[in-house]
Amino acid sequence: MEYKFPDGFLWGSATSAHQVEGGNFNDWTEWEHANSERLAAEAARRHAKTHMRIPDYILERYPNPLQPENYISGKACDHYNRYEQDFDIAKSLGQNAHRFSIEWSRIEPEEGKFSEAEIEHYRKVILALRQRGLEPFVTLWHWTNPTWFAKRSGWLNKDSPKYFERYVNKITLSLEDVKVNFWITLNEPEVYVGASYFSGQWPPQKSSLISGIKVYQNLIKAHQLVYKKIHQISGNSLVGTAKNNSFYEPFSDYLLDRLVVRLNHYLRNEWFLNKIKNYQDFIGLNYYFHDRVKFSLTLKSPGGIFVRNKNKNESINNLGWEIYPEGIYRVLKDLKKYDKPIYITENGLADANDEKRAKFIKEHLRWVHKVIQEGVDVRGYLYWSLLDNFEWDKGFWPRFGLVEVDYKTTERRIRSSAYEYAKICKNNALEI
Ligand code: GAL
Repeated sequence: MEYKFPDGFLWGSATSAHQVEGGNFNDWTEWEHANSERLAAEAARRHAKTHMRIPDYILERYPNPLQPENYISGKACDHYNRYEQDFDIAKSLGQNAHRFSIEWSRIEPEEGKFSEAEIEHYRKVILALRQRGLEPFVTLWHWTNPTWFAKRSGWLNKDSPKYFERYVNKITLSLEDVKVNFWITLNEPEVYVGASYFSGQWPPQKSSLISGIKVYQNLIKAHQLVYKKIHQISGNSLVGTAKNNSFYEPFSDYLLDRLVVRLNHYLRNEWFLNKIKNYQDFIGLNYYFHDRVKFSLTLKSPGGIFVRNKNKNESINNLGWEIYPEGIYRVLKDLKKYDKPIYITENGLADANDEKRAKFIKEHLRWVHKVIQEGVDVRGYLYWSLLDNFEWDKGFWPRFGLVEVDYKTTERRIRSSAYEYAKICKNNALEI
């Protein structure tokens, strides 16, 4: 059976600066150095509990998740120097779009001082994509901040939206000649707020509801400001965000279970999008999670607020995340109400042995195809990620790439699932 996608559908993959470039210096870099030993020790403690053992085949790879070096981004994939080779690979895999991010700390390493050399670097990156027929989706902020910005309380500072606007103004003016069609202002603001300001897991490790709300409001304001700014500078560009939405369903018909579904859906899926609904030309969707939830009295629970997760986990990835393709359909169906074109800006899995990736992609795309048939305007799919990369506080061991990276030599090896995905990209159709 062949499932044809609409003409002009964009096919590609995504990365973010800090996770692939190497040689960055930002608030995460500082945090990694201060926390790598702790993260390794925590991983070792978890590993010692028999039901949380990390499989041997992962421990045997480099870097080992039980060692501190796994938690330091360092030279990462050296994509900063190897982007042309990486884009050659993407092109050879039939892709016609690519999402990457500009690293704010490179562009503005000191407050108000911009690096023309780094701007030039990203101009070359965009041109390299265009030369290969890959449509650039340019993310302006993918969680990392310049150290000067972090020292001024980062996104808690009431002037933070203005600092962000100054950087975006500079970058969009400077890159006006290369005509970026798709700007993504912010990556997953609610995930950042949750992990950096509510649960206190990520830098700056705050655990405060009030701080979290302030940061969220500043991110909304920042988005609104730069939405207008980008339109002033380059009227034809399309501006959106990359929003992580999950499919929540109640564990039972019990009223409290249904209420926590509503609450989480509203706070985590809808709130930000409602706030920016007059300031977006498209919706970028990052889909990873399905949560079958039962009410719990714990305010801060993983996967949601007042939530105990009751997923069946019939199939999981290396991080233990449930694989639930139907969820992408449910989430997309729900986004129809915003009446904007939708691009899937991330969807992928950690799968070191490449056992489940091809099936994962195909099954998700089968549901994407169905939702398009039912009238939802989905225009592209960007797999996360082109390359294995630095997965934040988990470090290097989770392997999300279509392309495997040997972190000792930085050599690339295309995984077999990448060729399966390439067939879909080249035919603009899924065959199953
Ligand atoms: C997303 C994030 C990416 C990547 C991915 C896989 O939430 O935007 O940077 O880490 O998850 O976990």
